[in-house]
Amino acid sequence: MDRRTFLATLGALALNGISWARRQRKYEWTDSSLVGGYPYKLPDLPYPYEALEPSIDSQTMKVHHQGHHQTYVNTLNKALSELPAFQELSLEELLSGLDKIPTSHRTLVRNHGGGHWNHTFWWQILSPNRREPSLALQKRLASTFGSWDNFRSQFLEAAMKLFGSGWTWLVLTPEGRLKIVLTPNQDNPLMPFAEERGKPLLGIDVWEHAYYLKYQNRRAEYLSAVWSLINWERVEALLG
Ligand SMILES: [Fe+2]
Repeated sequence: MDRRTFLATLGALALNGISWARRQRKYEWTDSSLVGGYPYKLPDLPYPYEALEPSIDSQTMKVHHQGHHQTYVNTLNKALSELPAFQELSLEELLSGLDKIPTSHRTLVRNHGGGHWNHTFWWQILSPNRREPSLALQKRLASTFGSWDNFRSQFLEAAMKLFGSGWTWLVLTPEGRLKIVLTPNQDNPLMPFAEERGKPLLGIDVWEHAYYLKYQNRRAEYLSAVWSLINWERVEALLG
């Protein structure tokens, strides 16, 4: 294939990818403004680094935000700088249409686009306010999982079972069902590779970088502590 044919094929594939991704809007996150657009920027945290002490220490928050999250943003921007046809898509569109991104850049966008989306979601799903979930939310979850306590134990057990690094999610599927979903690395339920796709309502970062400084290998202790920080009002708002 000569260079001109190659570029024409690449352009056609890109346009195909864009139109496919635009049909996936059902996967759009309601707060995409927090994620931003290309070139992406590291979002501010909605609270100070020390606000989640003692459950999550300020040093972990700082390294996680300024180190890990910033790297996801930088690497995503670099990958997209080489994919002009994809720069105008929202991050949700990129992630839900990952299989349409040229293979040369797909893994970079998957890992670092996922990393940026997941961490932007993560900062918002935590809160220093430590409020209990509303009775309405507890009832809604109980209708799927049997009781609120069952939901909590099933979610935390799933997070314990996740091998290696990844995320545990509560997802609203396009059919309106609530499901607990595990994704490896920086994948998420927007992506075509997820075992169950849908709208994330709750997600917990189960990478060791989220807890190792304070909890080392004690993942159960971290999960129990972080459960008290979940912003249930936000979960409820996302559920709608
Ligand atoms: Fe993380």
